[in-house]
Amino acid sequence: MAKKIVAGNWKMNKNLQEGLELANGLNDALAADKPNCEVIICTPFIHLAKVSELVNHDNIKVGAENCADKVSGAFTGEVSAEMVKSTGCEYVILGHSERREYYHETPEILKEKVDLALANGLKILFCIGESLAEREANKQNEVVKAELEGSVFHLTAEQFANVVIAYEPIWAIGTGKTATADQAEEIHAYIRSVVAEKYGKAVADNTSILYGGSCKASNAPELFAKPDIDGGLIGGASLKVADFKGIIDAWKK
Ligand code: 13P
Repeated sequence: MAKKIVAGNWKMNKNLQEGLELANGLNDALAADKPNCEVIICTPFIHLAKVSELVNHDNIKVGAENCADKVSGAFTGEVSAEMVKSTGCEYVILGHSERREYYHETPEILKEKVDLALANGLKILFCIGESLAEREANKQNEVVKAELEGSVFHLTAEQFANVVIAYEPIWAIGTGKTATADQAEEIHAYIRSVVAEKYGKAVADNTSILYGGSCKASNAPELFAKPDIDGGLIGGASLKVADFKGIIDAWKK
């Protein structure tokens, strides 16, 4: 059985003080009412070390939103996988559509990041998903398969066990437009079949496949009730304790 996960992606929100307040609030809320899924918060780099120190890792895992495609050296402004790991955090998001689009991260660059993250003991939340034009042309399956093949299918099965897949249709991110639970389930089942073709059914059954894109407390229960949806990667609704806790609690319904 794949692990059930609710992960937050704060994106470029919250200054240090605000971020610590949010992490603290979530930490208190989950100490009082333990989650029955894995909870991850992925924060900007500057928050990682302090957030990682502050939260109870039994209830909350911490992740970065990116890492460099180089080991170390003269790459001004970059943060390496080793640096990320040294903050005490366990995860890193790679392949988010915002990074692919705005920072021109190609499948080859992402492959380098994937390898460095794993070499440094980080687990990966690997994002895939089609644009609106691709969905309208009915190319979503082709797109997600190519994204997996381009950046993670070179891994051994043992390495792949450290990869969580996040399916995030670009047209649903921050738009208020969620994929319907049936639409999401259809492509999640397809993604699992592609993983099964590559690594076998046992690995595919153990792979967590998260949905992301305008997921909130009101639609999470319906999405999470689907057999191939193992949780969510949450943007906007991860920025307030009550909203995020509402999604975590969807696993209690
Ligand atoms: P929203 O939940 O704000 O739509 O963002 C989803 C996302 O991109 C998470 O990585």
